[in-house]
Amino acid sequence: MKCTRCKATAVVALPSHHAGFCPDCFKDFFTRQVEKGIRRQQLFTPEDNILVAISGGKDSLALMLELARLEYRVTGLHIDLGIPNSSEAARSVVEQFCDKHGLKLIVKEMAAEGLAIPDVKKRLNRPICSACGKIKRYYFNKVALDGGFTALATGHNLDDEIARLFSNVLRWDAAYLADQGPYLPATGGFAKKVKPFWRLSEFETANYAFLQGIEYHTAPCPYSKGASFTMHKRLWADLEEEMPGRKLDFYRGFLAEGRAHFATVKEEEGEKLAPCSDCGYPTSAGTCGVCRIKRAVAGIEAPEAAE
Ligand code: AMP
Ligand code: FES
Ligand code: ZN
Repeated sequence: MKCTRCKATAVVALPSHHAGFCPDCFKDFFTRQVEKGIRRQQLFTPEDNILVAISGGKDSLALMLELARLEYRVTGLHIDLGIPNSSEAARSVVEQFCDKHGLKLIVKEMAAEGLAIPDVKKRLNRPICSACGKIKRYYFNKVALDGGFTALATGHNLDDEIARLFSNVLRWDAAYLADQGPYLPATGGFAKKVKPFWRLSEFETANYAFLQGIEYHTAPCPYSKGASFTMHKRLWADLEEEMPGRKLDFYRGFLAEGRAHFATVKEEEGEKLAPCSDCGYPTSAGTCGVCRIKRAVAGIEAPEAAE
C-alpha cells in the first residue's frame, strides 16, 4: 500500500479515513486531527494556561507532546497514587519524559494527602476503581484551580469516549449524558475540562506514540480487573470494521444532536451544589466524596459514610 499523500510506502492503514500513510504523513495527519478537534469544539486558545493530566500511559504522554509541539502553554500533572510497584514505575516514566522534552511537571502524592490508594482500598467496602477515579478527578480540579490554570486536559481518545457514551446511552443516564463530551466549561468551583484527542482512535494514538518514540507505562493497574468497558470496546471494534468511520460519526452526531437535549433535562432537574464543609469543593452532599473517604481512611468515620 502507498501513502495517500506522498506515495511512499504506507505503514498505517486508516479505513475510516479511506487513507494510508507513511510515518511522516501519519504524524501530519495526526496533528491536523488534533488541531481540528480543538478548533471544532473551541476547546482552548493559545492564551489558555493548560494543565495536562499525565498518567504515564501512551495517550496522555502523546497529548502532552503534541500540545507542546503546537506551542500551547502546558504543564503536566501526575497523580502518584501510592500503589506499591505500579505507581513508582508510572511516575518515573512521566518524570523521565518531561525531563527529556524540557516540560514542566507537577507531581501530587496521594500518600501526603492521607489518600494512598492501598489505604483507601483497605477501608472501603466497594470496588476501589470508582473511589480512585473520584480522587483523581478531585485533584485534577484542585491543582488546576489552585495553580491558576484555565483548562484541564486529559488523554481520553475516541474509543474511550464511545465506550462511555454507549454505556450511558444503554442506561439513558441523562445526567451523565449532559456532562459527556470533549469540552466542559468552567463553572463555580470547577475548572474547564477538555479532551483534545476526541477525534482519534486508540489505534491512532498508539501508532503516534510508537512513531514519536514515546516510552510509556504499559502495566495495568494491579487493582483493576482489566480495562474499563472492554466488552463495549469489542462490540464497537466489530461495528467499525464493518462500517469504517461509524465511531466518529456516532460521537459527532451525539455532540451535534444529543448533548444539548440532555443538558436541558439536567438544568430542569437542577441539582443544587454547595461548598463542602471540609474543603470547599462543590458538592450536593454537605461533605464531598473525597473528604468522606479521607475521614474513613483516618478512622474518624465508618467506611459506610464514604460509600
Ligand atoms: P484512564 O481513566 O486511566 O483511562 O485515564 C484517562 C486520563 O486520565 C488519562 O489519559 C490521563 O489524562 C488522566 N490520568 C489517569 N490517571 C492519571 C494519573 N495517575 N495522573 C495524572 N493523570 C491521570
Ligand atoms: Fe485507580 Fe487502579 S484503582 S488506577
Ligand atoms: Zn471536601
